[in-house]
Amino acid sequence: MNKLWAGRTAAETARLADLFNSSIAVDSRMARQDIAGSMAHAAMLGAQGILSQTEADQLIEGLQGILDDLESGALAIDPDAEDIHMFVEQVLTQRLGDLGKKLHTARSRNDQVALDLRMYLREEIDVLTERTKVLIGVICDKAEAYKDAIMPGYTHLQRAQPISFGHQLMAYAMMLLRDLDRLRDCRRRLNLSPIGCCALAGTTYDTDREGEAAALGFAGICLNSIDGVSDRDFAVELCAALSIQMMHLSRLAEELILWSSWEFQFIELPDAYTTGSSIMPQKKNPDMAELVRGKTGRVYGDLMALLTMLKGLPLAYNKDMQEDKEGVFDACDTVKMCLSVMADMLPGMQARRDNMRKAASEGFINATDLADYLVAKGLPFRSAYQISGALVAKCIREGKTLESLRLEEYRQASPLIDEDVYAHIDLLACVQKRTSAGGTSTASVEKQIAAVRLLLAQ
Ligand code: ARG
Repeated sequence: MNKLWAGRTAAETARLADLFNSSIAVDSRMARQDIAGSMAHAAMLGAQGILSQTEADQLIEGLQGILDDLESGALAIDPDAEDIHMFVEQVLTQRLGDLGKKLHTARSRNDQVALDLRMYLREEIDVLTERTKVLIGVICDKAEAYKDAIMPGYTHLQRAQPISFGHQLMAYAMMLLRDLDRLRDCRRRLNLSPIGCCALAGTTYDTDREGEAAALGFAGICLNSIDGVSDRDFAVELCAALSIQMMHLSRLAEELILWSSWEFQFIELPDAYTTGSSIMPQKKNPDMAELVRGKTGRVYGDLMALLTMLKGLPLAYNKDMQEDKEGVFDACDTVKMCLSVMADMLPGMQARRDNMRKAASEGFINATDLADYLVAKGLPFRSAYQISGALVAKCIREGKTLESLRLEEYRQASPLIDEDVYAHIDLLACVQKRTSAGGTSTASVEKQIAAVRLLLAQ
């Protein structure tokens, strides 16, 4: 294929080399950002007198025409082009003649691709932020609906203490709030413009990097031209933030899978988000939740591929860096999809309050409360713990629960126990007494929901 850069070499590359070298299949999705960047660049060249104002205006008009034609479908991306930057420039030159060749004054594809990627990911971060907020809102609504539904809280996947289902759900809202914060932080460091760093060393033209950056919505410019073209930290940081977010989504997915199993039967997932089995008629499989859990691996893979690609790369640009886009795009696509699926599935999730309550009453999860009761009657906690433990052992031997023990049985264990013990170990009471900040009482869950909704509204 004959190349724009013909000159140094005969520019006849092998067909296989062209195929191997081409990134258009991946980077054509940055067409809009590439054109917007070029329009700002042409405007800057005109304003600085590097091109005449008429030339700049014609370039901008030509670029707008390409954007319009791409959007209407009148112009198709050429799959044989080397990359999106070459493609746009080639079309511009076909349409405007030699003037098209002037656009690339005072820039290089090295700063151009860094610019495009920052602009593209900046928009992705905004979409990811919106979708994360929607999911947090959905979780708050569910937590509100189930703030008084009692379930066993677990440690070691063993029933531990009674909690409100709403409280458990709000734990996920907290994780997602931290994810939002990481996205915001990542966007802040990403939002500096590399354009004007040129190939690596800057340029001899009297450019206005700050003005061009401001026109493109950046908060400032990359201060070192070598760093500007070789830095991909923003893509690494985004993949890292998204990996953590997927870890959160996969923990939620795993709980949905467990809770909807026949063994737990704590929740019913909506039919629209489950599938049947091709052979076992009784099955209702939580495929969507399983896929969220499964897709977590690919996002971690995207992060590792990017880190490994960058490791040990000498400054400044190296073609290895063309491999940066596929992974980070995949991470964004995957997380956006998982967030939408979760936000669409969760409203239809029904808690089976009776089963949750039943599970909570079978695991002696009020044994701590019984010990606390004895402490209130004056026993040291360790002694109280022993008495409570012995009573649990008796219940297990005799197939009873703490609630069903008779008062004489309690009194044999400790004469300090009175009739009021029953009110004290009642599961709802156990939950409602945990009024400490961030605890599981309904009042505390209500406070958490209000605090999170306030943060979302800001
Ligand atoms: N397609 C290239 C990439 O994504 C654009 C930059 C090419 N620069 C170069 N010096 N060959 O990295």
